[in-house]
Amino acid sequence: MIFETHAHYDDEAFDADREELLNSMEEHGIGAVINVSANLESLDRTRELMERYPFIYGAVGLHPDEIGDMSETVLEKIRTLCRLEKTVAVGEIGLDYYWDKEDHETQRVWFERQLELARQEKLPVIIHSRDAAADTLQVMKSCRAGEIGGVLHCFSYSKEMAAEYLNMGLYLGIGGVLTFKNARKLREVVAYAPMDRLLLETDSPYLAPVPFRGKRNSSLNLPLVVQQIAEIKGLSPEDVTGITEENAVRLFLNKRS
Ligand code: NI
Repeated sequence: MIFETHAHYDDEAFDADREELLNSMEEHGIGAVINVSANLESLDRTRELMERYPFIYGAVGLHPDEIGDMSETVLEKIRTLCRLEKTVAVGEIGLDYYWDKEDHETQRVWFERQLELARQEKLPVIIHSRDAAADTLQVMKSCRAGEIGGVLHCFSYSKEMAAEYLNMGLYLGIGGVLTFKNARKLREVVAYAPMDRLLLETDSPYLAPVPFRGKRNSSLNLPLVVQQIAEIKGLSPEDVTGITEENAVRLFLNKRS
């Protein structure tokens, strides 16, 4: 079964048909989903989703674009949520210099604090990094993120940068971008990375794969990503599904052991 490691089903884009869509996951081969929080409201909504649906797990944290809402109180709330049985990661956390909504120093301080929280709570991290390659790597190294474990979500950097993270023992999240015409760099990364370090993800409702590019995304589109990875790696789609599922179980479900 496909293990979807990054979706935002709390997003209002799913308000009209959330229940119907989530109830159809299993019959479409989606066995597990991590709902990733980004803003304050999504912390509570992720908790609700994982309590309601057996196959939904949660990641808790504040996205760099939302870090203006962070405080010691919020950090302690995230710590409490980390201790729920179905919370499997701290995320998504990181640096975003593309939207650049918060100043770099503030982003960096809370990125480091959330990494430290993950270490204390013995959870892996889900990293968001956009147009911030050098600073993200610097923080990840200085916080010894390899010891914490985690995934670079929607990996968008070069093969050389991928090598840095793979050498730290981290995983790469691969989604719909792989099907885009201009995804040459990402195809190189997928060809280069060992199969046991790739995770499937959508970032739903964003980043729908071709031929649905620009439309609302959902985990049901993941077979299109599986197909691309299978072609690049010379594997069957079944193998790609199975190996990425094992990878996700190893990273997220064997926690705290
Ligand atoms: Ni996301």
